[in-house]
Amino acid sequence: EDFFASQTQLEKKKIVITAGPTYEKIDPVRFIGNYSSGKMGFALAEACVQQGAEVTLIAGPVSLKTVHPNIKRVDVESAEEMYQAAMAAFPKADAGILCAAVADYRPDVQAAEKIKRETKGEMTLRLVPNKDIAASLGAIKREGQVLVGFALETNDEAAHAEGKLKRKNLDFIVLNSLRDAGAGFRCDTNKITIIDKEGESVAYPLKSKQGVAVDIVNKLATLLK
Ligand code: CTP
Ligand code: CA
Repeated sequence: EDFFASQTQLEKKKIVITAGPTYEKIDPVRFIGNYSSGKMGFALAEACVQQGAEVTLIAGPVSLKTVHPNIKRVDVESAEEMYQAAMAAFPKADAGILCAAVADYRPDVQAAEKIKRETKGEMTLRLVPNKDIAASLGAIKREGQVLVGFALETNDEAAHAEGKLKRKNLDFIVLNSLRDAGAGFRCDTNKITIIDKEGESVAYPLKSKQGVAVDIVNKLATLLK
């Protein structure tokens, strides 16, 4: 393929990407969050527009900037807000990439005022489950749409990833193992294995998140042809 052909793998394709953490409010000044930086999702957005795609990037609270005119950014805070934005955008899209580290639980009540220390004893937070955005998109996925998920695992990696692939009706899943040095949160590199719904598994070497994004986009392009 020539140079230009290699830059148009996703020409005119509409891609929805979730990225970053979610924050689940406890009270006006406190939240439950996680260490996701959003770097992988933002690198994916860049890699997609480099290939001619139009991206809707649904981002949790991150400190990253987006400049490309073909990246439409939707900033959200909680898992519920991310769910609403993703469900609204996915029906018009050709593909969805679920890269966000969505909180599985949120406090059952968000206190309207700052919670005071008052008593010196223990304090309990009751948590209730958030919606599964990936599974919800998987349930409304149409013929021809492609859905990509991520799995960050510490043990029984392949089995857990394959379970998520099936449960969420994904076309392929990008597995990171926390046992691999240089993979996961707060890192500029990543080491992935792509497992698709045909059961094919490809392990890639350690790369920059930009390099990993290109590998994921190449896999996506083969399914969007
Ligand atoms: N995901 C999502 N919405 C959620 C939870 C997860 O869209 N509420 C997506 C993630 O963005 C990722 C995939 O589902 O693409 C797998 O996320 P993960 O947290 O590994 O899976 P869970 O189903 O939450 O399972 P667990 O955390 O128990 O391993
Ligand atoms: Ca989870």
